[in-house]
Amino acid sequence: MNSLLEPLSLYIHWPFCLSKCPYCDFNSHVRENIPQGRFRAALRRELAWEAERLGRRRLTSIFFGGGTPSLMGPDTVADLIADATHLFDPTDDLEVTLEANPTSVEAGRFAAYRAAGVNRASIGIQSLDPDALRMLGRQHSAAQAITALETARATFPRISFDLIYARPGQTLEAWRSELRQALAIAADHLSLYQLTIEPGTQFAALHRRGAIILPDDDTAVALYEATAEEAARKGLLPYEVSNYARPGSESRHNQAYWRYSDYAGIGPGAHGRVTLPALPGEPKAIAPREHDDNRSIVATRRHRAPEVWAERVESDGHGMARESPLEQLERAREMLLMGLRLTEGVDAARFADRTGVSLGAAIDQDVLQQALGENYLAWQWNRLVALPAGRLRLDALLAALVR
Ligand SMILES: C[S@@+](CC[C@H](N)C(=O)[O-])C[C@H]1O[C@@H](n2cnc3c(N)ncnc32)[C@H](O)[C@@H]1O
Ligand code: SF4
Repeated sequence: MNSLLEPLSLYIHWPFCLSKCPYCDFNSHVRENIPQGRFRAALRRELAWEAERLGRRRLTSIFFGGGTPSLMGPDTVADLIADATHLFDPTDDLEVTLEANPTSVEAGRFAAYRAAGVNRASIGIQSLDPDALRMLGRQHSAAQAITALETARATFPRISFDLIYARPGQTLEAWRSELRQALAIAADHLSLYQLTIEPGTQFAALHRRGAIILPDDDTAVALYEATAEEAARKGLLPYEVSNYARPGSESRHNQAYWRYSDYAGIGPGAHGRVTLPALPGEPKAIAPREHDDNRSIVATRRHRAPEVWAERVESDGHGMARESPLEQLERAREMLLMGLRLTEGVDAARFADRTGVSLGAAIDQDVLQQALGENYLAWQWNRLVALPAGRLRLDALLAALVR
């Protein structure tokens, strides 16, 4: 029965970092001694628990995210990949990504991760400018970043790296030149994020005091447009707002999020969206859907604090903090929010199948007509797509569009 469902993606969260970067609000924690053995055992146990309730599904991707997964012992990574590929049925082209930081210690472990089964590395370079790396509180130099990239290229079949731009004081010319340098060493995929000020971070406090000033909107738009232009020169096309790839090299795991496919998330603070048989107590508003055999999509979230999560896994087999079935309109809202980030947009038939409502019923028709007229959105056959002008103001557009 479960083989009828789309293949599953698996996210595994490693919550530890060497230090906390001042801009970052990911679930990351600094510990003097990382309890490797305890977290290995707990992740394996929670994976087994999740697999048991999901049943034998096809598995298309595994993503080790963080935090800093390149602080995981390679034996832990090997055990989790082995467990996942026994508990589920891996597709022939299973994608296994590990996020890595580019310190020399971590680059020294790349070969062991490759031997463990990792076939894609995603490396957090952030910048190639020494002053910017200092400002971002990074623990590595630009030279170390380049060495780590070269080691990764020689080790993994696929690599990607992250840069943060639209930093305080960054000029268009400086960004073009940094990006060209990055593109010269890039392989098939890049994630290019504009710096955002996340509540609760050190940068948020500095921003409030006026000690950090972000580029104004016009500059941010110019930086975004220059980014796409430079990437296109090297054959890397934007397939999502912040992600660029050679056609065919897109991150399958991240595509699962944006296409609103099933993904299971284990480890502290991990989120998931998985199709389960309808739960008892499901709100009555969700009519049983004939076409999907009365299954429901549930949102899952694990305890964020690493030690609390580990204690729960040790006592209950899982560290679930909350699991809630998603009503049709919530699913519709989520699928639109994610899907319009993709260049390919949202497929109307798949939308109806995943959410139980039609695209027309989920969006405000007046706003849609206006957005079509302004060339923010377009219909391309049966797909609703955000055009470049729409992608620049996607957050505002979605807030108005989604009922
Ligand atoms: C899970 S995080 C970090 C992965 C890895 N620990 C690292 O630091 O390299 C994934 C990426 O999100 C981006 N990121 C995190 N916080 C950000 C922020 N406030 N603004 C823009 N990009 C951010 C960074 O590029 C980072 O590499
Ligand atoms: S950016 Fe990466 S290394 Fe820095 S705190 Fe966040 S997860 Fe950790």
